[in-house]
Amino acid sequence: MQLRAGQVAVVTGAASGIGLALARRFAAEGLRVVLADVEEEPLRAAADELIADGAEVLARTVDVGVREEVVALADAAYDTFGAVHLLCNNAGVGSGAEGRMWEHEPNDWKWAFSVNVWGVFHGIQAFVPRMIAAGEPGHVVNTSSTDGGIAPLPTASVYAVTKAAVVTMTESLYAHLKAERARVGASVLFPGPHMLRTGLWESHRNRPGRYAKQRPRRTPYRSLEQWEAAMKEAGQDIAFTPVEQVADLVAEGLAADRFWLLPGSEHSDRQIRARSQSMLDRADPSYLEHFILD
Ligand SMILES: NC(=O)c1ccc[n+]([C@@H]2O[C@H](COP(=O)([O-])OP(=O)(O)OC[C@H]3O[C@@H](n4cnc5c(N)ncnc54)[C@H](O)[C@@H]3O)[C@@H](O)[C@H]2O)c1
Repeated sequence: MQLRAGQVAVVTGAASGIGLALARRFAAEGLRVVLADVEEEPLRAAADELIADGAEVLARTVDVGVREEVVALADAAYDTFGAVHLLCNNAGVGSGAEGRMWEHEPNDWKWAFSVNVWGVFHGIQAFVPRMIAAGEPGHVVNTSSTDGGIAPLPTASVYAVTKAAVVTMTESLYAHLKAERARVGASVLFPGPHMLRTGLWESHRNRPGRYAKQRPRRTPYRSLEQWEAAMKEAGQDIAFTPVEQVADLVAEGLAADRFWLLPGSEHSDRQIRARSQSMLDRADPSYLEHFILD
């Protein structure tokens, strides 16, 4: 899909990080943007910034885990702009689960699934039928992660399970859109190739009461800065990918009609090969052993 001035892009999780970078990029290309986020203040700041730069903006406070709120978002987008060409189901959270899987709190799973999996499905249900019916070129970009989308980091396994689901959901969506001969396409995004300096490490700031933790954490949440300092002390320098680079990858991938918005990386290529080979060989997933930390 070619991005053109006047088209309408919807971005969830648009108040921060990757979502904000995507919205800035689309606005810079002349698209009208619909910003959705659960966090009110940063959302308002993001909208003000884009409006000051001359963009046409609709900002809505939305919890993507609540179907009615996503349907209301779609209604508002169509009422305001009359069309949607690009939908980025990008909102996501880390689960905050600790310890082994059998020790996780069910609410860690429920919350992460509500945002990372149901949020994407709600976006598809609320927008895609209208995007198809419009008969214009359109596209859906779902944000996954190399963690889970390619292979799980066992230390962040709940998150990984949700991001694996996003890949499978997007593959299925791609097939359904082809079967429908729709002018709407689908892509799955793997932000990277390195980590990103975003609010993901502080996901707990948005955890709703209905998915509250039922027992205190054993260890306090670690900020990205604390983790980075610990890695430095252990002699490991961490590379970061600027969020603008992710927005470039999306814009170029859309123009080239790419399904896999996967940045070039020897590390992820090695993981893809190792995982596929292990399946083909019916061998144990020994590629996970590098990532298993006590
Ligand atoms: N940061 C990374 O290294 C990285 C790597 C791979 C994938 N991702 C994915 O990228 C996406 C964007 O995350 P980010 O890194 O920019 O983090 P971020 O925390 O900066 O942005 C996520 C945004 O989603 C919003 N959000 C959270 N729950 C929501 C809900 N229920 N409804 C609506 N909005 C909600 C947050 O308020 C925030 O603005 C996520 O899907 C994340 O899983 C991030």
